[in-house]
This record gives sequence, structure tokens and C-alpha cells, in this order.
Amino acid sequence: MDAEAKKRAAASAALAWVEDGSWVGVGTGSTVNHFIAALAERRQRIAGAVASSASTERRLRDAGIEVAGLNDTGDLPLYVDGADEATWHLQLIKGGGGALTREKIVAAASRKFVCVIDDSKLVPVLGRFPLPVEVIPMARSLVARRLVRLGGQPVYREGCVTDNGNVILDVHNLKITDPAALEAEIGLLPGVVCVGLFARRPADVLLVAGAQGVQTIRR
Ligand code: A5P
Repeated sequence: MDAEAKKRAAASAALAWVEDGSWVGVGTGSTVNHFIAALAERRQRIAGAVASSASTERRLRDAGIEVAGLNDTGDLPLYVDGADEATWHLQLIKGGGGALTREKIVAAASRKFVCVIDDSKLVPVLGRFPLPVEVIPMARSLVARRLVRLGGQPVYREGCVTDNGNVILDVHNLKITDPAALEAEIGLLPGVVCVGLFARRPADVLLVAGAQGVQTIRR
């Protein structure tokens, strides 16, 4: 099974968590795009979706799915999103697609976060994938210097402006042994909008697609 087929399998498995008549939080990325395609097939049975990015919002609307804002829906029963890395403790690195801030907001507003990945993303320790940090543009150099002090090598993501008008630093070579502590420490740096560690609010369910099928890991 190739990577794309695994992504599709994990995304399809997430459909089992969607409750009829409810709003669904929808993440961003190539795995979630498969989920949107599957969700479109049952759009009459859900109230609609809350998008974690402008690109997901466009895709949902194109699929005929009603889109509402989080301020109108209130808390959500379910959020479905991908990740760049995940551990067995369901802590994640996200933001490879640049949508980390809105993803973290929708995840925080959701009672259940179902994360869909292929098995290449399951790691013992987070940090092989460069950690995305969304930063207010004027603080880019300041935050980069602070990230170096923390042992990382930040790289400015050229040409990327987030949906919130900010920039992204991808931090290489971090061995993240205490994800919750690092999430708090980086999050407190002046100028940081969001760090792509999802450890303080990890996923609740991880659906991992491999050659043998989709494995469910719960917290
Ligand atoms: C978007 O900002 C990310 O958090 C994505 O959820 C993550 O990069 C996974 O994307 P893919 O499903 O495309 O690998």
C-alpha cells in the first residue's frame, strides 16, 4: 500500500467518529483532504464543518459542505486532523502545512480529537520533523535567537505567510523529550503566536494506517 492509499484509509476510518446532526472540526493537509472527500458523501447527515484554514474552508465549500465559524458553533464534539509526527502518547508535531494556529484553536474547542496518519509518522521521540513555530513578522529574528538558545536551528520558511498574516520558523534538530514543557516554554517567547507541538492538548484517538490496515491508539 503506498503512502497516499494509507492516508486515504486513515481518513476513511475517521468517518466512524462523526455523529449525525453534529458540527465537525476539520483540519488541514493531504490526509484530511481525503476525509473531506469522504465527508462530502454524507454531508446531508451532518450540520456542517468548522475549518482550520482558508484552504480547508474552500475545499469544504467546493464539496458542498456547509461551513460555520467557531464563534457561532461553540464547542465541537469532534475534530479530525492529520499530523507531521505522532508518538504513542498521542502527542504531535503539526504545522507542516502552516495552519498550526487555527488547528490548535479548533482542537482546543473540540471534545474529541481524532488524528489520522500513515505509519511513517509514528515516532518514539518527536523532533525528526522540523518543529513549526508561527511568529509575528517583526519578532522573527528575536524568536530565532531564542530558539537557538533552546538548542534548535530555526529556518525561516521562505514565501510562507500564514492565514493570520504571520511567518513560520521551522526548528531543526530538536530532540523533544518533554513535549509539554517545550510547548509551554516556546509559547511564552514574545512574538510567538503558536508552536506546532500538540502535547498539552494531544489527540484523543490516533488512527494509524499501515500495510495491515488501520490501527486505533487511544489515550
Ligand atoms: C497543517 O498545518 C498540518 O498540521 C497538517 O495537519 C500536517 O502537516 C499533516 O499534513 P499531511 O496530511 O499533508 O501530511
